[in-house]
Amino acid sequence: MYKGEMLESMKKVEAARAENAVLEPRRMTADEKEKLLATYHPDYKQSEFKTLEVGVNKGDKVPTELAALLQANSRLNGKAVDLSRIDYDVDVLVIGGGGAGASAAIEADNNGANVMIVTKLRMGDANTMMAEGGIQAADKPNDSPAIHYLDAFGGGHFAAKPELLYKLVTEAPEAIQWLNELGVEFDKTADGTMVTTHGGGTSRKRMHAAKDYSGAEIMRTLRDEVQNRGIPIVDFTAAIELIKDDNGNVAGAVLMNMETEEILIAKAKTVIIATGGAGRLHYQGFPTSNHYGATADGLVLGYRAGAKLLYADTLQYHPTGAAYPEQIFGALVTEKVRSLGAKLINVDGEAFMHPLETRDVSAASIIRECSDRGKGVHTDDGVGVWLDTPMIELKNGEGTIEKRIPAMMRMFAKYGIDIRKEPILVYPTLHYQNGGLQIEANGMTNVENLYVAGEAVGGIHGRNRLMGNSLLDIIVFGRNAGKEASEKAKSVKVGELSLKHVDEFAAEMKQAGVVSDIVSPKLLPVYTHGNPRFEAK
Ligand code: FUM
Repeated sequence: MYKGEMLESMKKVEAARAENAVLEPRRMTADEKEKLLATYHPDYKQSEFKTLEVGVNKGDKVPTELAALLQANSRLNGKAVDLSRIDYDVDVLVIGGGGAGASAAIEADNNGANVMIVTKLRMGDANTMMAEGGIQAADKPNDSPAIHYLDAFGGGHFAAKPELLYKLVTEAPEAIQWLNELGVEFDKTADGTMVTTHGGGTSRKRMHAAKDYSGAEIMRTLRDEVQNRGIPIVDFTAAIELIKDDNGNVAGAVLMNMETEEILIAKAKTVIIATGGAGRLHYQGFPTSNHYGATADGLVLGYRAGAKLLYADTLQYHPTGAAYPEQIFGALVTEKVRSLGAKLINVDGEAFMHPLETRDVSAASIIRECSDRGKGVHTDDGVGVWLDTPMIELKNGEGTIEKRIPAMMRMFAKYGIDIRKEPILVYPTLHYQNGGLQIEANGMTNVENLYVAGEAVGGIHGRNRLMGNSLLDIIVFGRNAGKEASEKAKSVKVGELSLKHVDEFAAEMKQAGVVSDIVSPKLLPVYTHGNPRFEAK
């Protein structure tokens, strides 16, 4: 229920709605975007970054919160670990129970490998489950992987690793077919044609969706497939350190039961990190759309074992996190709301930007509107701009909202807001880690036998990701890592297990004078002190 300034401003939004609905705000020029990003996007705020003093990326800047975890103490410090007591001995160990981990495990299983998934929460407790708007694939006659490539390459500031992006877009149509055959209930017309829409920065309608709970539908299907195949899942158990062998190759992981803290040893011929993102680190105090477990664990495990990071200094702030009411602060308001026709409107009822600019540009534009331009709408706890959802039905007809974005409708209805009749307030929310561990096209890092898939990878999207390319990358690169890691495992002979690299990292910290009272990986955020919204130290 809106009140005070919100109500006053809403009247202006309503009065201008018919005019705004047909208005086509112009797209910004490249020059305008560059200036906007440099001034307002959080990635450009130099004071929020720290230079790494140890490890393979020494000298590189990463967010301060991430630096603290990368240059922290191992959870094994002071704990005796008996590496001769093997609890699990597998060909392929998958760390992470989201979409990338599940896809990897399915393909490793297809290839005859003895594969096991370990996850610190439950299978499916992951950002995949929370993805809403859809998954991109160029599979319509007016589209092609080449056009998809150009959209994503430009949207990512021409920084994507070409061979990774090539793989992403060329394998996208097959990824959709794979999911369709596994049983994902994509939106289709009566004749079975997939319904596709635009996303920010797409030049063709290539977003395939299951209403506005696409990720949940995909995760449901993948989880069923993993379980139906009988792939072992060790849940509520976190990987807290990678194990190498005496050849320096990755050869398993030290696991910790989340309840009892019992230490377990998993030996593996190859390991796939599929641990997801970092939203729960609340970079720069932003709220997040992310899952509770998104604490950058894979980056820490990989980095301590010598794996290189790429673009770890670039994050995605989704332009439309819920800014009101407080109970859903930071929750994702899918970009599909804008794809369907809702525009971003300021306190005076003005449509201040094109609604489908790329995400970094959209987020920066909203931040500018709410800061220097003083055109934000104030709530009791913060500020936001309107996303004028009633425009959707003005444009597409009554019933569109319930049919196409029912989860959005329900989320706001719980708090007395009918998005068919009233606009909603939004502000950027920490959504995605564009950077991560660097891989080659075969999914392997610079550390032998260590693979990565999903949000923990850096380089697929460059320095900004387009909507729908993340659900796509977890499938394409998850499957790829599963195939490659299981194939590699056939020829791997594991040597003597060792944790020497953990001691060496600690010694490097000492030598560099880096003193930390933090242990990592973090595993879970901490919300017990002060303002629970922002404090996850
Ligand atoms: O807006 C969204 O539905 C988010 C999609 C994505 O991050 O790809």
